Amino acid sequence: MHATSRPIATNQSGPHRDVEKRVDRALRHPLRKPVAEHTREAFEQARAWYEREAGDEQRPLILDAGCGVGVSTRELARQFDDHLVIGVDRSAERLSREHGEVGDNALLVRADLVDFWRLALAAGWQPTRHYLLYPNPYPKSVHLKQRWHGHPVLPTILALGGRLELRSNWRLYVEEFALALAQATGTAAAVESFDPGSRYLTPFERKYHASGQSLWRLVAELPHAPELVPCDTERS
Ligand SMILES: C[S@@+](CC[C@H](N)C(=O)[O-])C[C@H]1O[C@@H](n2cnc3c(N)ncnc32)[C@H](O)[C@@H]1O
Repeated sequence: MHATSRPIATNQSGPHRDVEKRVDRALRHPLRKPVAEHTREAFEQARAWYEREAGDEQRPLILDAGCGVGVSTRELARQFDDHLVIGVDRSAERLSREHGEVGDNALLVRADLVDFWRLALAAGWQPTRHYLLYPNPYPKSVHLKQRWHGHPVLPTILALGGRLELRSNWRLYVEEFALALAQATGTAAAVESFDPGSRYLTPFERKYHASGQSLWRLVAELPHAPELVPCDTERS
C-alpha cells in the first residue's frame, strides 16, 4: 500500500510546559460538565449488553476508546475471544462504515468518551485492557486542553485501571502522556517506537506506517483507582 500521510506539524519543540498545570488542575477540580443524554442512553445499552454477555462468568472487558471505524475493535475481539470488547467513537459516520462482521464478543457504541468514561467508572467497570489508538493529536500548542492528558477527564481514564495502551504517530503526544501519567499515578511508562509489520490494528496505523512515519506507544499497568477522580467536596 502506498500512502502519503503527512507527519504531524506542530509549533511545539518539546513537551508543553503546561502539562503539569493541566494535570494538577484535573486532579483537584471535578469535571462538572453534565453527561449528554445520548451518551447516557448509549451507555445504558452498552451496560445491558455487557451484563448479558458477561453473565455470571465475569468475562474480562476491553475498551477501545476512539475506535473510529472499529477495525481494532473487531481485531481485538478476535485476538481476545474470551473477553468482551467495546469500541466507542463519537462519529456515527465512521462507525457505520462497512468493515465486516463484528464478533459476538464485540460491540460498537456511538458516544462521547468524556461522558462514557465517567459513566463506566461510576458503574464500577474495570477493563483489563484499555486502548487509546491514534487519538486526535491537536498538535497546535494552544490545543493542549483537547489532548487526553491535558483534558479534565484524564483522572477518570487512569482511574478505570487495567493495561492502558496509547499509540500515536506523534512522539510528543506519547511523551506528554507519559509525563501526565507519572504525575497523576506515579507510574513510569517507557515511550517506545514500534513497527507493526503487516499486523495493523487500525486504519490510521496502516496509513501512517505505509507513509514511512514512525509509530510510538506507551503501555502502563494501572490499578483500579476511583479515588484519583476529585469529587465536589474534596481538594477544592
Ligand atoms: C484519529 S482517529 C483514530 C481512529 C482509530 N483509533 C484508528 O486508529 O483508526 C480519532 C478518533 O477518535 C474519535 N474521538 C475523538 N474525540 C472523541 C470523543 N470525545 N468521544 C468519542 N470519540 C472521539 C474520533 O471520532 C475519531 O474517530
